[in-house]
Amino acid sequence: MYVCLCAGVTSQQVIDAVAAGASNTKQVGELTGAGTVCGRCKNNIRALIAAAQPERSH
Ligand code: FES
Repeated sequence: MYVCLCAGVTSQQVIDAVAAGASNTKQVGELTGAGTVCGRCKNNIRALIAAAQPERSH
């Protein structure tokens, strides 16, 4: 499923970026491009990061 339509980034790509060490929307944006265009997907990206964080649980 696409999380960022502007950059065509899927939720799996965001999860992979978190697995690769990204821990915030800026780092996910650097790795995938997600959230770097209109920014409307940032809340969704943030939720995905929180869900995919390996060591931090909420
Ligand atoms: S939908 Fe992600 S930057 Fe626009």
